[in-house]
Amino acid sequence: MTRTDDDSWDITEGVGATALGVAWARAQEANSGCPLFKDTYAQRFIDAATARGWQLPPSHMVERIRAISNYAASRTKWFDNFFTTAGANGVVQAVILAAGLDARAWRLPWAHDSVVYEIDQPKVLAFKAQTLTDDSPAARYIAVPIDLRQDWPKALCDAGFDTQEPTAWAAEGLLPYLPAEGQDLLFDRIHALSAPGSRIGVESFGNKFFDPEYLANRRAQLRQMREAAGDDATDAVDVQDLWYIEDRTDVADWLMRHGWRVSTEDAQTLMERFGRPPTAATEDTTPRTTFVEGVRS
Ligand SMILES: C[S@@+](CC[C@H](N)C(=O)[O-])C[C@H]1O[C@@H](n2cnc3c(N)ncnc32)[C@H](O)[C@@H]1O
Repeated sequence: MTRTDDDSWDITEGVGATALGVAWARAQEANSGCPLFKDTYAQRFIDAATARGWQLPPSHMVERIRAISNYAASRTKWFDNFFTTAGANGVVQAVILAAGLDARAWRLPWAHDSVVYEIDQPKVLAFKAQTLTDDSPAARYIAVPIDLRQDWPKALCDAGFDTQEPTAWAAEGLLPYLPAEGQDLLFDRIHALSAPGSRIGVESFGNKFFDPEYLANRRAQLRQMREAAGDDATDAVDVQDLWYIEDRTDVADWLMRHGWRVSTEDAQTLMERFGRPPTAATEDTTPRTTFVEGVRS
């Protein structure tokens, strides 16, 4: 599948379906014996998409998602903690970039008077609104349906975002879907909108993640899973085909250079901390990401 500068998608298509993949992983975790977090919404998104005719990924993809489920669970927990800590520090304005089927606005214990803005493609947010039509968010919730390659700062401000208030920003599962230049512009814009005291949580994808040998291993593992499952791979999409595999600015460096106080944790350490270390079978394909937290002084 070829990406274009102005492509768009529904929840069951292309980049949109990756949000369903993550929701599926969260549902598996939430339904497990000792989950790292509660998320009763994830399974509902899957059920609603299935009712629309979406089919669970073929078995090789299910295996792939299962293989990274400990990663997805640890990542979810990290961002949950990020928002809870921001609230405890008096930050009551949050922006979830590329929110997909993230249900934090409904499921986290937000501080009094919190407002949560979510940005994603219009059809993705419409699907979410339809699915949760009878549910009350746990904070004031404002959807901002727009592509992040367009003028989203204007759309956000038009929706009521206050540039004088510190903000908690999250970019989870987003950056590979933006071109490197788009990533730079994203951080320029976040910085321009961030009052002192703002915080940012980023799942960062650097050179180790885009290393050609590592990506080739991931592709090969997917091919093996397909073959083992006997799946017809003729029209199968590899998520790598949806990414912009390009040299990127290092997020932690960029934030430090722009006056943010930064701490980082790599995925392996994070997963060990949450008691979910990669296994021998998954360590070669566990995403080589870094979780970056910044505070603007
Ligand atoms: C892997 S999903 C992650 C969703 C969510 N952050 C989570 O972790 O559950 C990627 C999300 O990024 C969104 N996305 C990717 N590129 C985007 C863009 N240019 N504008 C708006 N949303 C985008 C997709 O629609 C999708 O919901």
